[in-house]
Amino acid sequence: MTYRESKVLLLVGSMCTLLWLLFLTFAGLGRPATATATSFVYKNIFILAGQSNMAGRGGVVNDKWDGIVPSQCQPNPSIIRLDAGLSWVSATEPLHADIDLNKTCGVGPGMAFANAVKSKDSSVGVIGLVPCAVGGTNISQWMKGSHLYEQMVRRAQTALQEGGTIRAIVWYQGESDTVSRADAEAYKGRMEKLIADWRADLRSPNLHVIQVVLASGMGPFIGTVREAQLGIHLPNVMCVDAMGLPIEPDGLHLTTEAQVRLGQMLAAAYLNTMSTSLSTSLSTSNARRICYPFFC
Ligand SMILES: *[C@@H]1O[C@H](CO)[C@@H](O)[C@H](O)[C@H]1NC(C)=O
Ligand SMILES: *[C@@H]1O[C@H](CO)[C@@H](O)[C@H](O)[C@H]1NC(C)=O
Repeated sequence: MTYRESKVLLLVGSMCTLLWLLFLTFAGLGRPATATATSFVYKNIFILAGQSNMAGRGGVVNDKWDGIVPSQCQPNPSIIRLDAGLSWVSATEPLHADIDLNKTCGVGPGMAFANAVKSKDSSVGVIGLVPCAVGGTNISQWMKGSHLYEQMVRRAQTALQEGGTIRAIVWYQGESDTVSRADAEAYKGRMEKLIADWRADLRSPNLHVIQVVLASGMGPFIGTVREAQLGIHLPNVMCVDAMGLPIEPDGLHLTTEAQVRLGQMLAAAYLNTMSTSLSTSLSTSNARRICYPFFC
């Protein structure tokens, strides 16, 4: 074999290796089990939206998070999160750090919720959390046409692209609408409109919405907003009442302990509805099915 022949052989050989590596990458094989490898896995998707208590302020005192992550909020290989750059990554506290990015985020209900769902339903498969909450926002800032609305719908649509179903929108918002009587009284109508718009834009007329009923507020009309939330009687819209859970010294934000409790209450409410209303649809979309590109 001449020098020239051996060079050609080497070139052909390395091109074959390259093609083989490309094939392996494309087929989703041979990759380490990192967050990116979970992209094409079927996901049970939950949209987390609202204001600060959904974004998470548990353990935040004087704009500093204490960094304490309770055992119920620890990461799990099958709990992933859509980050601000629209990539699936391992979900860790604080879930909203890159979404509610102008504020100091701490523990919210999302991780406790996902871990509780997993521990109570071992067949659930991968849980994909889509954090969208931004602190201090009123419901008017979330209505269709607003930046927050469009961003949330875009993130939800992106979350669906590589396989999965949106199981529920978990909504914890309204503290900012307790300041004026007019806003508190308009809350019910605005919330009903918002739910109708989400369902239309996500093409999911029966989409589940879990509302957290306020535990606190920025103004005096907490009772009015709570009544509005509890008075929404649309199909597949349910309430989980946060009233009575421990609040930080600021009088507004749920403590870490309270967020863990809330996450567990949300999981119980979700699993309860699923066991009754979704038994048929779950059997057709096996939650553990793995989707690969072109095969699902
Ligand atoms: C953060 O602050 C910037 C600059 O004021 C603003 O444009 C942006 O909308 C804020 N983002 C959030 C999520 O609050
Ligand atoms: C909602 O909040 C925005 C931004 O703080 C404010 O401009 C607007 O007036 C508020 N809307 C209502 C109806 O309270």
